[in-house]
Amino acid sequence: MKHFRKLIFVCTGSDCKKAGAKKLYKELKEVTDEVPLKGSCKFIKTKCMDMCKTAPNVIVGDYFCKNTSAEKVLTQIKKS
Ligand code: FES
Repeated sequence: MKHFRKLIFVCTGSDCKKAGAKKLYKELKEVTDEVPLKGSCKFIKTKCMDMCKTAPNVIVGDYFCKNTSAEKVLTQIKKS
């Protein structure tokens, strides 16, 4: 069976939390609970990814979003 949901890894390590990872996670959850993206994304909270200098970090599929915001992640979700 084909897997349709995109996997999105959100770092919730201490440095990313300080850089707003919790807020980013909430924003992404809210937006992806609405219609065009509803049910298409699976969020996974991770521990530190060892890329703290570029916090907050999010991985969308095989693309690494550094110093990211909800808009950048959404653009990447739509692209992939
Ligand atoms: S805390 Fe997110 S990469 Fe280290």
